[in-house]
Amino acid sequence: MNDYDRGVIRSLLLKKGFEEVVKPEESNFVIYLTCAVRKHAEQRALGRIRSEGNGKVKVVAGCLARMYGEKLIKEGMADIVIGPDSYRNLPFLLQRHIREGLPEIDIENRLDSYEDILPIFRENNFSRYITIMRGCNNFCSYCIVPYVRGSERFKPQDSILKEVRKAVEEGVVEVFLLGQNVLAYRDKEIGFTQLLEKVSQIKGLRRVGFLTSHPKDMSDELIEKLLRIENLVRYFHIPLQSGSERILKKMNRRYTPEYYLEIIESIRKRFKDPFISTDIIVGFPGETEEDFKETIEMVKRIEFDFAYMFAYSERPFTKACKMGPKVDEKTKKERLSYLIEIQNTITRKKVRSLLGKTEKVLSFGRAKRGGTLTKSLNNRIVVVEEDIEPKREVFIKIEKINGWTPIGRLKWE
Ligand code: 5AD
Ligand code: SF4
Repeated sequence: MNDYDRGVIRSLLLKKGFEEVVKPEESNFVIYLTCAVRKHAEQRALGRIRSEGNGKVKVVAGCLARMYGEKLIKEGMADIVIGPDSYRNLPFLLQRHIREGLPEIDIENRLDSYEDILPIFRENNFSRYITIMRGCNNFCSYCIVPYVRGSERFKPQDSILKEVRKAVEEGVVEVFLLGQNVLAYRDKEIGFTQLLEKVSQIKGLRRVGFLTSHPKDMSDELIEKLLRIENLVRYFHIPLQSGSERILKKMNRRYTPEYYLEIIESIRKRFKDPFISTDIIVGFPGETEEDFKETIEMVKRIEFDFAYMFAYSERPFTKACKMGPKVDEKTKKERLSYLIEIQNTITRKKVRSLLGKTEKVLSFGRAKRGGTLTKSLNNRIVVVEEDIEPKREVFIKIEKINGWTPIGRLKWE
């Protein structure tokens, strides 16, 4: 999300005559696009902001700007504080700061969707994330996003289609539609699957994918509709968060473990070799050993291709802050490392199961140690030993596994 916003900010500033420099030493000001989702992300950002950029104008942008506001100025961390809905105002605030030397702050909640801004990207003309919605209305009880990013709003379809067409003109062959919960998308008469279908039909675009999906908005019917999209990347990131019904309730997730299982079964029944990944939180307030065991059981039963796993991190404004009893840090750590071990074994097993398989892959660059980087139809990185020119689709056979990376050889074109 922040990477996309970097493109938005770049576009806004370049239009107003600002220049981007390659070496940070050459800059007059530096913009930090910050994340507040977990304490760890926050600390990393604050650590860098504190230790870098002395003598430069510091702009703290993004979620920490909304979370801390004035405090960042008072503590000498920032000259300009700008929230996720205020980027349009950044060129002016920078100009005013240069002229008047006073701190500037804008963290208003405007529900901007930046629909008229064509973001500018410097790197990667192969694959691109396109933000189709901003904010979130779901209020999962642990999550700060609805508070710092504001409520859900959707970019109009015309603006999305225009943006994808431009990306394709720039050489992009794969796009991922991006949002906190893309399944909620609607614009006039159309919903998410219709949008996806329209995007997938854009000439020159080879593949289209999406993330993230809230399980409560997934259904058999929706999955059935996705099947119609021939060039869909079979990559499904569906955050489970917990395997315990009781904890899911406290998290305000609005689905049961049974429902989640049905969704996964439905995807696996319909799609050949889907890649399914998830997010899991351990140590949510009140999580007992029994609840944790249920998460482990779910993970073993589902066998995710990959999982992002986190220890619960207390975030301001959220309902979970007031929930008890807290799980102590040591237990959280222990549960997290146990879960990671279990999932890693599964991840490895999943990768190994690819040995000997034939896959249709899309090439996108040179691999560091020779050969070509490619992506399979389900978004897996596969290194192919032969040199293949970029953006070609070829069939390969997977012959080796190196760490977690499958290595293949060209079969036929
Ligand atoms: N603590 C731990 N993990 C969190 N996430 C969101 N908020 C928190 C929190 N307070 C995780 C969720 C989400 C992912 C983006 O970050 O798993 O899906
Ligand atoms: Fe946070 Fe839940 Fe919204 Fe995801 S769906 S951004 S976890 S509130």
